[in-house]
Amino acid sequence: MNDVLPDDNAAWTTLERVAARIFAGYGYEQIRLPIMERTALFKRAVGEVTDIVEKEMYTFEDRGGDSMSLRPEGTAGAVRAGIEHGLLHNATQRLWYVGPMFRYERPQKGRYRQFHQFGVEAFGQVGPDVDIEQVALSARLFRTLGVTGLQLQINTLGTPEERAEYRDALHAYFSARADALDADSQRRLDRNPLRILDSKNPDMAALIEGAPTLREYLGPESSAHFQGLCDGLDRLGIAYTINPRLVRGLDYYTRTVFEWITRDLGAQDAVCSGGRFDGLVEQLGGSTTPAMGFALGVERVIALMQAQDAALVDLAPQVYLVYKGDAAQARVPVLAEQLRDALPHLRLRVHAGGGSLKSQFKRADKSGARLALVFGDDEAAADEIQIKPLTDRRPQEQVGLERLAERIAALLD
Ligand code: HAM
Repeated sequence: MNDVLPDDNAAWTTLERVAARIFAGYGYEQIRLPIMERTALFKRAVGEVTDIVEKEMYTFEDRGGDSMSLRPEGTAGAVRAGIEHGLLHNATQRLWYVGPMFRYERPQKGRYRQFHQFGVEAFGQVGPDVDIEQVALSARLFRTLGVTGLQLQINTLGTPEERAEYRDALHAYFSARADALDADSQRRLDRNPLRILDSKNPDMAALIEGAPTLREYLGPESSAHFQGLCDGLDRLGIAYTINPRLVRGLDYYTRTVFEWITRDLGAQDAVCSGGRFDGLVEQLGGSTTPAMGFALGVERVIALMQAQDAALVDLAPQVYLVYKGDAAQARVPVLAEQLRDALPHLRLRVHAGGGSLKSQFKRADKSGARLALVFGDDEAAADEIQIKPLTDRRPQEQVGLERLAERIAALLD
């Protein structure tokens, strides 16, 4: 679980602002969800035989004896809220959320126990239009952030019926090779053989490689849906790779699944992933509602933004106010508030901690501010102030306090 220190904040703020703007640009509305839900919700939604539910949830009993879990992901809570508030009944909804998720995984670069996701969920559209829309949205997000080098992988998981047939085929394939299965996979063989496919054990890789693929078991509607997705992406000029081994680690997916993959973060290569979950609303007690969504891993995208020197919003102070003398100091708070009234977007840092003017200027330089304001007792007596450019080669100037805001605005323009 990480602290995000001020130095990293410009990247976080950039991502937050760009994401909020792009989501709104596609008609998605923000929903704010609790970080804790009943454990049963995740068991039913994510699936009992998944790494997340079996090994990774932070689960505890609350004082009333209910089993609660910190959310390992956001889709279950979004569906729960949609049903509870009647948002999904005979309606289409496009929702997004952001916040911390919790998984007890082995921490390494790009994988944390508290991490953050931006999530997007659309309800009520059978697609594949909305599948295409969400891939295009995520592509635009990365393009706008200046993050490059990502590869889009897509696959289809078919319907539950098609998957049941496939499951039997997988079961037969792995049963015939039961000796080669690791302990996890042996346990999963009877309960959920599909999960064997996302085993992270390298010793299992060759066996998994040889397993049958789901595409051989798709019916005509699922095939047409997938073809529609591919055609739509082709028309948009979005390049993709079909990866028949992309099965995702959560049980609720149907048909379309996709992931944006990077080579720059080592083993944690998925920066954004999702898919359709046409059965989940009904499974959690709502009416039959097709749905499609994805989530983006904030820490992973931030790491890419920093590694790729993406343009970040500037949150550094623009103006640094230094002062000397009792008469000046007494007026500083009023002066600063007046400036903030006059220039509501100004980022003004008032020096704190006293010290000589020389040491105050050192701080001003370090802050990244473009202008220093110098307010001494002489200036206070004359209702004037010195403006000293720190980053441009302009001369220092002295202005009357009544003209200060106007002059700062002109110099920063
Ligand atoms: P997920 O693939 O489990 O999907 O997670 C989505 C993204 O969260 C991943 O692609 C990755 O970038 C990030 N992520 C996952 N685990 C960690 C971790 N331990 N540390 C850092 N980042 C991580 C879901 O959660 C689904 N709810 C997505 C979805 C929404 N599907 C449909 N709607």
